[in-house]
Amino acid sequence: MNINLKGKRALITGTSSGLGEVIAREFAAAGANIGLNYHSHPDAAEKIAEEIKKMGADVLTLQADVSDSTSVAGMVNTVVKKWGGVDILVNNAGIDGAHSLTWETDISEWEKVVKINLFGPFYCAREVLKYMITKKSGVILNITSVHENIPWSGYSAYAAAKAGLSMLTKTMAQEVGTSGIRVLSLAPGAIQTPINKSVWSNSANLSDLLKKIPLGRLGSTEEVARVAAFLVSDAASYMTGSTVFVDGAMIDYSNFTHGG
Ligand code: BGC
Repeated sequence: MNINLKGKRALITGTSSGLGEVIAREFAAAGANIGLNYHSHPDAAEKIAEEIKKMGADVLTLQADVSDSTSVAGMVNTVVKKWGGVDILVNNAGIDGAHSLTWETDISEWEKVVKINLFGPFYCAREVLKYMITKKSGVILNITSVHENIPWSGYSAYAAAKAGLSMLTKTMAQEVGTSGIRVLSLAPGAIQTPINKSVWSNSANLSDLLKKIPLGRLGSTEEVARVAAFLVSDAASYMTGSTVFVDGAMIDYSNFTHGG
């Protein structure tokens, strides 16, 4: 099946590295025009923008802090001024935050993780929905994590934010269904990106991680991006309000591969 996103105006957050960068390329290859949001790496974003332009896409490079509602409103305003609206929003920007047990966690660090991973998607969705509701079409894809389901010791802000984002997906899907808008979550497992480099670049950490994945390997960014492109396309027109896991069955309780 060929995924067709021809002429769709896609705003993707957190594109200067990792999953966001590859999702942007995948969407451009399917014919979409791309609003490339980044926070603090303009050079990386410009480099990706140049590559994507060569693929024939119209590209807007957009600096904004997703955890700041004013910054998000400004970004969406710029996109709407240039393109007249947004057809697809991918809420991808996120951080794990530092490992820290709850009672030892600095409150401002906890707030920062929740602001980026949960408030950010809410701010972005709130702005684009104003246009999608008028047009009566659109798709929002929230990148959650296996940790929307799996507790993660030392990362309470991350797990709580991702679980919250999953519920935001479901609730928004209820609100906008009759307006022809779909809202989905995509939950990656352990995908090899800069976010978890400290784990996959250390052999003891890596072998511990691999035991948690029934497929026995890390996922690639392309394996996630292909599913993202399908979910935002008309090929997935009857899918909304749910989470699609791309995780090599990490949520499948791999400790139960033996015994019980
Ligand atoms: C996190 C990664 C982690 C993976 C599996 C992801 O959501 O961002 O750092 O390796 O979950 O635990």
